[in-house]
Amino acid sequence: MTAKWTVNQRVFQNNVTSVINNTPVIAVVKNNAYHFGLQFAIKSFQRSGITAFSTTKLEEAVEIRALAPDAMIFLMNPVTEFDVLRANNIHMTLPSLSFYKQYKDDLYDVHLHLEFENLLHRSGFKTFEEIKIVIDENNSRSMLKQARIVGLWTHFGYADEFDIEEYEIEKEQWLKGLGWLRQYYNFKYIHSQNSASYMRDGLLENHTHARIGIALYGCRPYASLDENVTTQSLKVSANVIQIRDINQGESIGYSFAYTAKDNIRIAVVDIGYGDGILRTRSKYDCLINGKRYQILAIMMSHMFVEVDSSINPQDEVILYSNDIRIDTFTFKGVGANSEQLSALNHQSLKKEYEYDTKIY
Ligand SMILES: Cc1ncc(COP(=O)(O)O)c(C=O)c1O
Repeated sequence: MTAKWTVNQRVFQNNVTSVINNTPVIAVVKNNAYHFGLQFAIKSFQRSGITAFSTTKLEEAVEIRALAPDAMIFLMNPVTEFDVLRANNIHMTLPSLSFYKQYKDDLYDVHLHLEFENLLHRSGFKTFEEIKIVIDENNSRSMLKQARIVGLWTHFGYADEFDIEEYEIEKEQWLKGLGWLRQYYNFKYIHSQNSASYMRDGLLENHTHARIGIALYGCRPYASLDENVTTQSLKVSANVIQIRDINQGESIGYSFAYTAKDNIRIAVVDIGYGDGILRTRSKYDCLINGKRYQILAIMMSHMFVEVDSSINPQDEVILYSNDIRIDTFTFKGVGANSEQLSALNHQSLKKEYEYDTKIY
């Protein structure tokens, strides 16, 4: 018996196909494909027709090139290993005018997507006029010394937020600048939208791709979306290892983690925050034999759950599955979808991919 991390390939694949719905997509595969495994995710995305991928680490981009020889691979963070970019045909962000000024003589033949800063203020050019300066300067260089400017992009900082106007403001600033710059230059790739923006607005005008992550991995980016919009292929499960009776007034767990208000029956379960379950998750319930039971305390390798007489040692305890989804706990404040996904400990959880033997 051991706690497990299990992904069903067919469910994963069907979710991807349904989310993209024939829209051209750059699949965000940073952090080892949101912890689903780069190789598994890339292969599944390719089967759903995705031919463009994006990450933040050069090492990951090089790994993707080996898995997807013909794909467009876009590195969202700037690096200065320009030879590696050229050798692997990896496109990179151009994050500022100062970066361009410093490295313009080294950027020859590197594919660049020029980045507009907008309200997130994480990276990017301050204005579209600055972007045009770089385009003009690059055009004025001899062919052999030119960078290959092929893309224009931004990242919205507020697409997951409602009841505030920032998303509309950042979108308007971007679309206005994009409309202006397109008069001067023809970009092959124009992308700005994460899962939330794509689901709110569909593919925006003049865009070639949506650049989405979390929805491809089965989580809804915001609460008002119907559950059917995504399907969670990941199951995180553990086991009841003991049943114990606790008397009213007795405390369980370290430092009085929970004090019983009545005589209760508890299950001791073999999973904890050492396996990457967020501690805030302990305020909510888990699923045993199709019924929800309240978690009482989470420790490093164990948790306590209040159960009834129907629960026995060896019963499976499900922390997450499509019936008890990560996104529902995100919306209750447990932590962002990607926060819980990336916290899961693949060293201590048994990792399994379920493949459909008819296809594989
Ligand atoms: C620049 C950029 N684009 C796209 C995404 C994908 O966002 P999401 O997972 O919300 O779809 C991310 C994720 O953080 C990102 O940093």
